Amino acid sequence: MQDRALSSGFSRFVRWSSLALAAGVACTQRGPLSDEEMDRLRAFSAAVAPPPDTSNAFADNPAAARLGKKLYYATGYSGALLAPYNVAEGVNGALGAAPQSGRVSCKSCHDPATGGADRRSQPNATSLGAGYTGRNAPTVINAAYSPLWQFWDGRADSLWAQALSPPEGLAECNSNRLRVVHFLRETLKEDFEGVFGVGALPDSIAALPPDGTPGDNGAFDNLVPDDAKEIVNRAFEPSPFDRFIAGDSEAMSPAAIRGARLFIGHAGCTECHRGPMFTDFSFHNVGVPQTGEHVTPDDAGRADGVAALTSTAYLFRRDSTVYSDDTTQAAYLGDLRGAAPDDLRGLFKTPTLRNVARTAPYMHDGVYQTLWDVVNQYNFGGTTGQYEGVRDPAIAPLMLTDAELGDLVEFLRALDDGPALPTDDFPDGLIAE
Ligand code: HEC
Ligand code: HEC
Repeated sequence: MQDRALSSGFSRFVRWSSLALAAGVACTQRGPLSDEEMDRLRAFSAAVAPPPDTSNAFADNPAAARLGKKLYYATGYSGALLAPYNVAEGVNGALGAAPQSGRVSCKSCHDPATGGADRRSQPNATSLGAGYTGRNAPTVINAAYSPLWQFWDGRADSLWAQALSPPEGLAECNSNRLRVVHFLRETLKEDFEGVFGVGALPDSIAALPPDGTPGDNGAFDNLVPDDAKEIVNRAFEPSPFDRFIAGDSEAMSPAAIRGARLFIGHAGCTECHRGPMFTDFSFHNVGVPQTGEHVTPDDAGRADGVAALTSTAYLFRRDSTVYSDDTTQAAYLGDLRGAAPDDLRGLFKTPTLRNVARTAPYMHDGVYQTLWDVVNQYNFGGTTGQYEGVRDPAIAPLMLTDAELGDLVEFLRALDDGPALPTDDFPDGLIAE
């Protein structure tokens, strides 16, 4: 239950979204696209709140959001950096030298200044925390819009479950739950008890060992009342694209407008990248070559994600009577248990394309460094390199010219949010550290 309490703050902080379009912007101007094309583009409007997460019962709690923000930037609970990867701070983007501790935070790999993704680690494919992750760190901005799935393979079915893994992950923070709970009591007791009640972090914690996991100690397992929910913060000025569909026909360049037409038309991107976040929140195999230093070899993607999520040993699911606040919405677990693993091999979650120009490298294994490389792969109808499973039939050669690929890239660039805004809950702006 400790984990639930911890997770709540993270999820609240992660649950930020782009600025709502000003209400009532009348579209009186005729843009350079047809009315039908404009209608199709307006289906991508971000002025829609993320779906509610009933498995997380503390919705709209500003104090929890503030705690979550502090935790997001906190490094104090993280464990030892590992050899041989961490030689010295800055080498390979390392956060310090092994075995220093207290160096890693969520921000280390999801930096709001770089679109909520990681551009620090070298080689620029996967991420270096305490060790190397096996996959590329996706953006956390707008993560709350996913109705269920977190991670490239969807092995978490909520944000609160997702946020439990990095602190204990060897490659990420290399910490453990007792270390986290001591850290909370020593540095964030007031904030924590402001959310979860006085006595939520009792002084008896001081007597517990400095490190350990649940099960090691019954007193610890029953320590903290749980509950978490989420708050929506509209944190950014709208992107050129959002201004364009709201009626400002000058907001996107002519090249980006041509790219928009391709995106919803001939290039077929909306087969999978659709809706306000430019994703169907589903899983597809687009034939990404499985290659790169530190990249997990033979990454089965969704096949592994489903096996992990449905394993009986795994606790942090929406159907958990201990951790979830709503166990009634988990019918999809039955469907997943019946799925054939071979059909799921090499499928990865369709990523959002908002802010994508800032979140290089691309794909689950960070194999591409530029947006040009990505659209070029689609133009060829996928890779010729080695990948797991069977490629989606929607991925076929597009025969676009270089100029058209450039237009597609310009359109993707127009999906960048504007600067961060102050909000009621965060007068300094949500992303100010
Ligand atoms: C060492 C780098 C690293 C650190 C530190 C880290 N993450 Fe991540 N994060 C990743 C990687 C890599 C993935 C993708 C892993 C996968 O899909 O298997 C990821 C995935 C995620 C996702 C899923 C996004 C999506 O669209 O599926 C969220 C949300 C997230 N992290 C939040 C956090 C939070 C909150 C913290 C701090 C508690 C954190 N991360 C710490 C590297 C990191
Ligand atoms: C069949 C579904 C599908 C279609 C069609 C599709 N995509 Fe994707 N897209 C995905 C998936 C799935 C990924 C992640 C694949 C992976 O990492 O293995 C992805 C990844 C991307 C990325 C990388 C984003 C990141 O953060 O890493 C970009 C950019 C992108 N697609 C743009 C496009 C464009 C432009 C088109 C049209 C030319 C397109 N996609 C067509 C499903 C699709």
